[in-house]
Amino acid sequence: MYWTVWTFLSVLMLRGASADNERLFQDPDTKLSFWQSYEPYKLDNGKGIIFRTAVPEAATSGTAFDVVMQMVVPNEVGWAGLGWGGGMPQNPLLVVFRNSNNQGVLASSRWANGHTTPNAYTGATYTVYKTGTKVNSTHWQVTAKCTGCATWTQRDGKKVYLNPKGNNRFGWAYSLKKPTNPNSATSAIPIHDLGQYFTMDVGKGVNKDFANLVSKLQ
Ligand code: HEM
Ligand SMILES: *[C@@H]1O[C@H](CO)[C@@H](O)[C@H](O)[C@H]1NC(C)=O
Repeated sequence: MYWTVWTFLSVLMLRGASADNERLFQDPDTKLSFWQSYEPYKLDNGKGIIFRTAVPEAATSGTAFDVVMQMVVPNEVGWAGLGWGGGMPQNPLLVVFRNSNNQGVLASSRWANGHTTPNAYTGATYTVYKTGTKVNSTHWQVTAKCTGCATWTQRDGKKVYLNPKGNNRFGWAYSLKKPTNPNSATSAIPIHDLGQYFTMDVGKGVNKDFANLVSKLQ
């Protein structure tokens, strides 16, 4: 409990009260415009994960649309995750990790009905692009398109939509431990070291030429 409260306060202090952690990122690799949020997980050494989203300008509220997600993750992280609907249960979960030679990155689609190990989720599919997916001495980065992450149905039948024009609350998580079989997208994964939330304005990562730019990604 102390640890949880301490972590929560630390993360709040790191993030500050303003939206300083949010900014526009014009990606030289994919040529997409992303809106990004930096989520620190450690107080002492400035370690954190960057989450970026790019959406089509034509996307409207209450409809399905593709989203390109880019994440920049410190090398010490075994897996990193995103909850598209603001938490862990009842929303599409994205889990990303490096393969066994640490050069490739896999994206895995999952779903949890509660705070228990998520299962594979076929309602969302991810296409990882070589463009914008890379590894260096400090970080790994992944760029993936999600089809099926802008709308989903909860267990009670309620249909939920991502808002392409404004703020959305996301859940995020990370573990320093790697998945059991990092060459398989359906590998078992260990529980996270931290599960948290952030809100960011997806509408600021808007792309007029989304379909055309995405069609050029490899
Ligand atoms: C691998 C098996 C997993 C287990 C056993 C698990 C279990 C849990 C538990 C017990 C909590 C509540 C923590 C607390 O009481 O403070 C929690 C919170 C959370 N988890 Fe997981 N988790 C798993 C995987 C994931 C994944 C893959 C993601 C995201 C992709 C995720 C995202 C979150 C988030 C955002 C929270 C905090 C917000 C919330 O409670 O919804 N978890 N998890
Ligand atoms: C390593 O890659 C990350 C993600 O692309 C980038 O932000 C960072 O500047 C790179 N660092 C070095 C030392 O090249």
